[in-house]
Amino acid sequence: MLVAGARPNFMKVAPLRAELDRRGRPSTLVHTGQHYDSTMSDVFFDELAIRPPDVHLEVGSGSHAVQTARIMEAFEPVLLKKRPSWLVVPGDVNSSLACSLVAAKLGVRVAHLEAGLRSRDWSMPEEVNRVVTDRVSDLLLAPSADAVDNLEAEGCPRHRIALVGNIMADTLTANLERANSRPTLVDLGLEPKSYGLVTLHRPSNVDDPDDLSRLLDVLNVIATSLPLIWPLHPRVLPTLERIGGAGRLHTIGPVSYLDSIALQSSARLVLTDSGGVQEETTILGVPCVTLRTTTERPITVSEGTNQLVGTDRSAILRAVERIEQGEISGRRPDLWDGKSAHRVCDALRVA
Ligand code: UD1
Repeated sequence: MLVAGARPNFMKVAPLRAELDRRGRPSTLVHTGQHYDSTMSDVFFDELAIRPPDVHLEVGSGSHAVQTARIMEAFEPVLLKKRPSWLVVPGDVNSSLACSLVAAKLGVRVAHLEAGLRSRDWSMPEEVNRVVTDRVSDLLLAPSADAVDNLEAEGCPRHRIALVGNIMADTLTANLERANSRPTLVDLGLEPKSYGLVTLHRPSNVDDPDDLSRLLDVLNVIATSLPLIWPLHPRVLPTLERIGGAGRLHTIGPVSYLDSIALQSSARLVLTDSGGVQEETTILGVPCVTLRTTTERPITVSEGTNQLVGTDRSAILRAVERIEQGEISGRRPDLWDGKSAHRVCDALRVA
């Protein structure tokens, strides 16, 4: 059984659901409904041809406690009825935490896909989700060697850890050509390598009007010489309305997976606070500036194209300057090779 609930989950379950089908062991997919707008969910199923969810819990939005509790309550009877041999939960969203907890208490084996990532910032809800999900999981499917080190340092036995690589690279490798043949740039009036892409949705950056205003002041300075396009996450809308818009930045609605990859791969640089975008830009070899003080994906800095700069004005401008001077390059980390779904199935012993 696979779980998917929020936007960053869908591109992670796509290759795994397809590989299980290929091996003649079709999965049951449970969609929790944490994300429900068609632009945040359906479009990913359509574009990536993910077989539709078998079960939809339709929980919707709520506070962390409410959302997590609703998912747990709705998921328990599903798990009791189906009793799968494995529950695979990807990522670090509330759906990952809620479903892994239910399974652990019912004695259903849990495999965590994207295990071992640590920002060590407990103010991030995702850090709590990561640590707890890993702790109750039987099989830890790690994307990179640093994640294996984190798990071992926390006392996780080595035999429960499988280094499978980054499954996002499977989806990206398989869809890059399709993404780049779309009219995304033309439709937006953009020329390749002559614009920057912005994505922002972390509560620490977008929930407080003063924080978002300060960040937008710096981004507006960058936008005087490089057009910046900003697809808006729904979370940002109320704050943006309160501060009266994004100035010179060109805002658009949430983009689909293929449009996101098209926009990233042709960007001169990407400014983001997303986890997945740090990884996708490293895979694409596109310079990334991460507007956070910590990252659970340090390999994107040590090996990839990422610079971790926080939200300090001069640090952001310096990072952009380094990119313009051609100082930023990187490589694809080991096992980010598009074959992770195979390794996951092998680790689950699905012949
Ligand atoms: C969630 C994840 C975050 C992930 C992000 C990707 C948690 C704790 N957070 O954050 O790790 O990076 O998804 O998008 O699980 N909303 C809509 N339509 C939707 C979904 C949400 O309008 O389809 C709005 C609602 O106002 C909602 C708000 O976005 O209250 C936040 O949604 P939520 O799922 O709580 O968290 P995200 O910020 O999306």
